[in-house]
Amino acid sequence: MAWWAWLLVQSVVWCSAGVVAVLWWLWVTKPHVDIPGPPTLPIIGNALDFLEHPVTVNKIRDFHRQYGDLLRFYAGPKLVVLAAHPDDIQHVMVTSKIVERDPLTTSAMRSFVGDGLLTLNGSRWKTHRKLINPTFHSELHGNFLEAFHEGSLYLSELLATDSAGGAAPADVHAAAFSSAMRSFCIASIGVDPDRLIPDISKHEVSAVMRRIIVLMQTMMVRPWRRSLSLLRLSSEGRAILMYYAHLRKSVDEVIALRSAATEEGPAKMRRRLLETLVKPGGQTAIPLSEVQDELMTMAVTATDTTAMLMSYTLALLALHPDWQDAARRELKDVFGEGGDYLRSPSLAELASLRVLESIIKETLRLFPVVPMLPRILTEDIRLSGGRVLVPKGTILYVAPFLTHRLPQFFPDPLKFDPSRFLEGRSGEEHPCSYLPFGLGSRNCVGSQYARLEIKVFLATVLRRFRFLPHSRWEDLENSVLSITLHTFKPIEVYCVPLQESGL
Ligand code: HEM
Repeated sequence: MAWWAWLLVQSVVWCSAGVVAVLWWLWVTKPHVDIPGPPTLPIIGNALDFLEHPVTVNKIRDFHRQYGDLLRFYAGPKLVVLAAHPDDIQHVMVTSKIVERDPLTTSAMRSFVGDGLLTLNGSRWKTHRKLINPTFHSELHGNFLEAFHEGSLYLSELLATDSAGGAAPADVHAAAFSSAMRSFCIASIGVDPDRLIPDISKHEVSAVMRRIIVLMQTMMVRPWRRSLSLLRLSSEGRAILMYYAHLRKSVDEVIALRSAATEEGPAKMRRRLLETLVKPGGQTAIPLSEVQDELMTMAVTATDTTAMLMSYTLALLALHPDWQDAARRELKDVFGEGGDYLRSPSLAELASLRVLESIIKETLRLFPVVPMLPRILTEDIRLSGGRVLVPKGTILYVAPFLTHRLPQFFPDPLKFDPSRFLEGRSGEEHPCSYLPFGLGSRNCVGSQYARLEIKVFLATVLRRFRFLPHSRWEDLENSVLSITLHTFKPIEVYCVPLQESGL
């Protein structure tokens, strides 16, 4: 063998041995916890358990059944814990006030939305949150209402067209996503949606969104797939990049529009999102790049969550006609049966829709569209009634998608039964057994906005259509576990038009 070949072989052997030695050292010095979980292999931990991709909700449910309410995995040497029991959740979120999101999740999301509320931690997160909280204040709900009503009429049109008079099933996410985007443009940006929304078919946008959600999970589980440049290599990836570029362009356009204004307009107690972030003349409340990222963050969070919640709700109502009838009876009681039955609802009318509210709550119990709350432990904490020490640095996922189906808190947990929320909660109440919008200071900034929007959307479409099932319960259960919950197949229902009086 030539001397240089020998040298090459020796270098490769020694480098590989060095890498293995470091990985082995990381493995043997990894944190140990007394929490059950699937068996591990040296160095790679539980990687083989997650070879099948994307990871489904059902897969984690199986682990939960096998190992219990507190379970652990190792991503290589990194300790990952899943907490489902409300006592542990209370300890993490309320007692220890752990608010920092974990680096696995934030770096996957950062590829798409940059530095916004979803991805920031520490003092920059606090600054953004302080700025953005007031843009969802209840004083703005009156303005939101108009925007949501407009979105709901658009949704009705899309469902009617897609469903061809009830003859074909309509893809709810596709219609609800575009409608929620319209409402967001009006409510939070204050710009005519027709000027901004890219000319891409709603089905394409919805499919791209589903791919982005799966991709985010890929990026979390396989960090080497994090680069957006890799996406150029596939047609799916190029579709994602195209939509992403459209959204970025729209964000730059709205910032330019607002910057071009010369006056603030009438003095108001509360300003909308864009008005808060950018002043006339172009001065910004936070660095311009963070304004762009925050608008991207909001555009994504305000639309996909609502669209998935609409999808699950309409599918469940189609599968449970008794509850659909109960909701419609309530709408008739509130809106009367006269000529103005289809009018835009007032805040007071919406507040009186208790059946509808309990239907939304029960849907979010079964299908919390934000299924996991990712955290990094910034201090050691004791869980399982103080018996288990979980060390600082652990990635901990609070898992509402498991908590919401614990039978001791929600008897007969797989049953769609909105009456649980009608007369107060049945079962053992616990302050942390139901958390669809999170808890504490890192809860959902748009929770009131979302609740109002979904109620307006439902109140509008339930007065116009009867929904019949196409997607089955199993289709709803077959979901990808990612930043938001997404079914593998689009959720579809038949929308049969009702007469003006709702009959
Ligand atoms: C059905 C609708 C929605 C659900 C179920 C939902 C749920 C959640 C949950 C559980 C969190 C907390 C995550 C955590 O603790 O790590 C969250 C955070 C967030 N949500 Fe929502 N959300 C919804 C709609 C919205 C809407 C409409 C907006 C915006 C208009 C929004 C904006 C956000 C933002 C920006 C955060 C991050 C807050 C922070 O870290 O400070 N969400 N959401």
